[in-house]
Amino acid sequence: MQRIAYTFTNSTVQYYLDTDFIHLEKLADREHAVIITDEHIQRRHQRKLKDWAKIVIPPGEGSKVQSVVDTIIARLLFLGADRDTLLIGVGGGVVTDITGYVASVYMRGLKFGFVPTTLLAMVDAAIGGKNGVDVGPYKNMVGTIRQPAFLLYDYKFLKTLPAAEWINGFAEIIKHAAIADPKLFRELEGQRPAIYRKDSKKLSLLVRRNVLIKSGIVKKDEFEKSDRKLLNFGHSLGHAIENLYGLSHGQAISIGMAYAAIISEEITGFKETERLHRLLASYGLPLKITVQTDKIMAVLRMDKKRQKEQIRYILLDKIGKARVIPIPMERLERILEAVLDKG
Ligand SMILES: NC(=O)c1ccc[n+]([C@@H]2O[C@H](COP(=O)([O-])OP(=O)(O)OC[C@H]3O[C@@H](n4cnc5c(N)ncnc54)[C@H](O)[C@@H]3O)[C@@H](O)[C@H]2O)c1
Repeated sequence: MQRIAYTFTNSTVQYYLDTDFIHLEKLADREHAVIITDEHIQRRHQRKLKDWAKIVIPPGEGSKVQSVVDTIIARLLFLGADRDTLLIGVGGGVVTDITGYVASVYMRGLKFGFVPTTLLAMVDAAIGGKNGVDVGPYKNMVGTIRQPAFLLYDYKFLKTLPAAEWINGFAEIIKHAAIADPKLFRELEGQRPAIYRKDSKKLSLLVRRNVLIKSGIVKKDEFEKSDRKLLNFGHSLGHAIENLYGLSHGQAISIGMAYAAIISEEITGFKETERLHRLLASYGLPLKITVQTDKIMAVLRMDKKRQKEQIRYILLDKIGKARVIPIPMERLERILEAVLDKG
């Protein structure tokens, strides 16, 4: 087991990397803890979870909504959860986002921890304290920023992860490399996702590296006043299409990054679009989708990065260096109109 700690504005988060789920018993008193998980994880990992009080939600993005928050809260009341109850989200980004949110609002805030079970949650979603729910097509429209007490990484969960979900995780890994780590980008260019699946040492190093990238950025700017915004590379368009077209988060972000590279060419003079597209494609991630621009613009207008008539878009100067650039909505609409595939 490797243990690291990051101190954010109001709290310290303990990361237990390369460990076993059994270690949870040392972090949580079973009598005062409730696990929130989804049906897929409950089915595949019943034995691990059997001795814990649990709330099991339906799997998928459709569960990241207020009505499921209400159901969880009703169950917590039924279970007699009080301010001393620890909530533990065991799952992918949907479970960790909703667990963090419920823990932030139930009785004005409970302590919580995460056991991320998808690659995407391990390298991104479980880290950084952003949590919340969607409102219709608007992703993460309601939420809070509040840090978990701990993150426990048991890579054995990944053995049951479907291949498509494995690939989704690489969207956020490629994002980290594209905005902050050109060396990681080169390493990924020399590998394939299957290699990391087979080689546990490589996987453990890859997860650790991404944990450090994201945690380092969040530590410097927890409340997203400056550099944390860079982590939204690919997310403006990505979030706009994710729920509209029923894409997975990884697919939506991949498409968002592919177009952000094209927009970067026009605005920053970025010259490595081909290279980014090649890497995404070689990890099995999509580059485009046929869309209706007016529908997308309607969702983009509600983007959290919009300020009056401008949207703060994350663009690349080069691989490993990103910048936030305000683009007038009208100009963005013209660019998207010209480059998007329209149905
Ligand atoms: N809070 C953040 O900073 C942040 C960052 C990135 C993404 N996110 C959010 O994360 C979500 C996407 O996360 P995700 O890709 O993990 O999706 P997810 O939680 O929906 O999990 C994907 C699928 O894998 C299944 N699954 C999970 N672990 C499994 C396992 N070990 N074995 C078998 N099946 C398993 C789930 O049941 C689900 O069907 C999105 O809602 C996105 O907005 C949040």
